[in-house]
Amino acid sequence: MNNKSLVSIQECSKDDILRIISKASLFEQNPNQELLKGKICASLFFEPSTRTRLSFETAVNRLGGRIVGFSDAATTSSSKGETLKDTILMVSNYADLIIMRHHLEGAARYASEITNIPIINAGDGANQHPSQTILDIFSIYKTQGGLDNLDITIVGDLKYGRTVHSLIVGMSHFNPTFHFVAPDELRIPEIYKTFCEEKNIKYHEYSDFSEAVINRSDIVYMTRVQRERFTDLIEYEKVKNVYILKNSMLDNSKDNLRILHPLPRVNEIAYDVDDNPKAYYIEQAKNGVFARQALICESLGIKI
Ligand code: CP
Repeated sequence: MNNKSLVSIQECSKDDILRIISKASLFEQNPNQELLKGKICASLFFEPSTRTRLSFETAVNRLGGRIVGFSDAATTSSSKGETLKDTILMVSNYADLIIMRHHLEGAARYASEITNIPIINAGDGANQHPSQTILDIFSIYKTQGGLDNLDITIVGDLKYGRTVHSLIVGMSHFNPTFHFVAPDELRIPEIYKTFCEEKNIKYHEYSDFSEAVINRSDIVYMTRVQRERFTDLIEYEKVKNVYILKNSMLDNSKDNLRILHPLPRVNEIAYDVDDNPKAYYIEQAKNGVFARQALICESLGIKI
């Protein structure tokens, strides 16, 4: 991790990822520790969130730190025209760490370049969501008993899905085979295919979400079509229900298969999947607290 900020998962080496998930595992065993006593963390959410914001805030609270911030930028002076630069400089006067979600790609990078306190990117537009990737990899590790040589099927909005983009980079250290399932309009961007090719990572693309691809998967990572990223809502309407995972589609899947989803779900996983032992998305979100406890300590240089 560069300057202790976490802006992009590209900044995490394989060793970084393994160290952070190992710390997450320790926090899972013992979540309440006074490691952030006297520290103030700012939680700046310029875009809506349930899990990311609340799990970061839970992580800070469980570590004995304090939180300041906002979950609705309309209540801040940015609604009066204050720039992101001035907002970041002001909050840097008050807090030891900034956790920030913003609709603009590159916003977290920019923030990290104008302040001396660490920035954790909690999602920047369609670009990156690195803390989600750490919790996703922690979840994969817990469910598969390891990270190497897995068949990972990623389904849905691969164009705008920032969790997808970060996951591809994060898992690239572990020789995965990716199966990318998306409609033509939402295919994985060329930049990520080039990335895989340069790293000798195998990938396949599909427009059908078939049982054949599910049955060879260790992980099926479902994603929501990102309505908020479309400039033309007619285009959104065309693809919004393109893939729906139903329980019957899992009948011949591998025993170790787990279904992940960064959530929120809209309707891409039918509710009858929830009771299947292979559904893991609720536990996955719980893992976010432990992963984020580990990330906060890494960013602040706090040993556990
Ligand atoms: N996974 C995720 O980023 O969820 P929220 O948008 O609820 O934070």
